[in-house]
Amino acid sequence: MKSSAYANLQRKIITVTLLVSFAPLIILGVTMYYQVALMCKDKTEEHIKYRARAQAQAIDLFLKERTAILSAMADTHSFNDMIDEKNLSRVFEVMNLRAGAFVDLGVIDSAGQHLAYVGPYDLSGLNYYQESWFGEVMSKGVYISDVYMGFRQLPHFIIAVRCWEGQRSWILRATIDPNIFGAIVLSAQIGKTGDAYLVNKAGIYQTHPRFSGKILTEFNLDTKMFRGGTTVIEARGSLGNRLLYAGSWSNNNKWLLVISQEPAEYMRRLFALRNTEIAIIIFGIFAIIMTTIFTTRLAVNHLRDSDAKMNELNAQLIQSDKLAALGKMATGVAHEINNPLNIIIQKTGWMEDLLAEEEFQNSENYGEYKKSIEKIEYHVERARKVVHNMLGYARKMEPHLEDVDLNRTINRTIDMLENYARDNNIDIQTDLSPDIPIIASDEAQLQQVFMNLISNSIDAIGKDGLIQVKSYRIKENITVSITDDGPGIPRDQQKKVFDPFFTTKQTGKGTGLGLWICYSIIEKLGGSLSFRSKVGEGTTFTISIPLIVPEKK
Ligand SMILES: Nc1ncnc2c1ncn2[C@@H]1O[C@H](COP(=O)(O)OP(=O)(O)OP(=O)(O)O)[C@@H](O)[C@H]1O
Ligand SMILES: [Mg+2]
Repeated sequence: MKSSAYANLQRKIITVTLLVSFAPLIILGVTMYYQVALMCKDKTEEHIKYRARAQAQAIDLFLKERTAILSAMADTHSFNDMIDEKNLSRVFEVMNLRAGAFVDLGVIDSAGQHLAYVGPYDLSGLNYYQESWFGEVMSKGVYISDVYMGFRQLPHFIIAVRCWEGQRSWILRATIDPNIFGAIVLSAQIGKTGDAYLVNKAGIYQTHPRFSGKILTEFNLDTKMFRGGTTVIEARGSLGNRLLYAGSWSNNNKWLLVISQEPAEYMRRLFALRNTEIAIIIFGIFAIIMTTIFTTRLAVNHLRDSDAKMNELNAQLIQSDKLAALGKMATGVAHEINNPLNIIIQKTGWMEDLLAEEEFQNSENYGEYKKSIEKIEYHVERARKVVHNMLGYARKMEPHLEDVDLNRTINRTIDMLENYARDNNIDIQTDLSPDIPIIASDEAQLQQVFMNLISNSIDAIGKDGLIQVKSYRIKENITVSITDDGPGIPRDQQKKVFDPFFTTKQTGKGTGLGLWICYSIIEKLGGSLSFRSKVGEGTTFTISIPLIVPEKK
């Protein structure tokens, strides 16, 4: 596979894995966010709904208490007692002591005449007959007014009760402190944006809202939007901002207690949660990306490595098949040539004998004949060497196992080549591991291999250089490497060096059989022969043979 194909595969695996892992993470995040948003909204709604209901009940209780104490005072005192302002002021004191929030107290007769008054305003002598509340209290017995300005020109509201004394009826009327009442209402507000106020049925503020609007001005919403009980709605406030309103009716459905709050207030918690969620998702995505890239790279690299190993193995198989076929053919040819060569040698010997006779010695072409015969002998000798090499190799194919001290074999081979190397100013260095045990192998064949490889290095270097021979053990294998700093093997020749008769040496200097024989020997010994070479830097041939311990004799 090409490296672009591996990159492609890696990209595809990463994309699919990331898509498959991101999708549920993002879906989960979004779903969770909306669920929590819904939950937050529900909770906030429920909360302000509860507050509104509770506060409306508190207001009802407040009014009931004030009404009850007013009625109790009216029932337990006579009209004559009450119009005595001294008595009235004592009653007023007791009422404030027991319940509080009363600003003033007055007694009005059935004609609307204010007969006695205790309080900070000058209201004595006023006639209320024309006031709408007067009619209401006379007909209904108890009356709680809306907030109004009245004679004192200040917003306030009153509680009035009618009393019967024989045939005569009169009214006890008290004003409630708008500040205390307003404060009670306002105490229902929640948070920074929360507000709480009362509006009447007509939508007029009965208390001061915290943020917008004033007492006795108009509420921005229609009170009809708030049905019986407690209602929560979302609408724009008077400042244009979106608000959540909870309204609960009190005072016999005359007043609406409203609690308002910006939804952003509860959203703040949600935003905090969202930020945490986003941070977790980003971290998750980052972790997924890193893990995916890392594991994919690991897997693809693994695949690439095993592909490379397989290719190498295949190449080795092809190489050994090819060499075996070539070997068969070459030895066949060598056999065929051997006989004619023998006959040629016989005949040239006979011709040499003939030339020794006198009649030929006197021949004018004697010198020519002799030279030709010598040349024939020289070249036949070369051919015989080749044939001998090939047949020798063929004959010795089966290794003869004996105890071999590999390091000693290497040293012996180097000894043989030392002079040749020194003549060419080539240094042969060794680094032989003492861990290598005696093995069962064929010493002569191994020596032939080392000899060929070291000679090749010397030939490749030519003059002035360095050859390093190393031996070491890796697990159950023994490795011998021969490294030279020669010219290296060009790429286009690298595939051919093991082929029989492949040589770059001058005619007559090399047969091109050396590496072919080495390869075949090592293969027969169950090992492998490979090389690495870079033009201009040098070549390393590496022999690896299995560590076979000799049988005990
Ligand atoms: N160490 C090396 N550095 C550079 N080239 C090398 C090296 N070893 C082998 N070769 C190349 O491989 C070719 C084949 O080597 P091989 O040993 O099979 O035959 P040869 O050395 O040419 O002939 P012979 O072994 O019969 O003397 C050599 O001719 C040379 O071009
Ligand atoms: Mg050689």
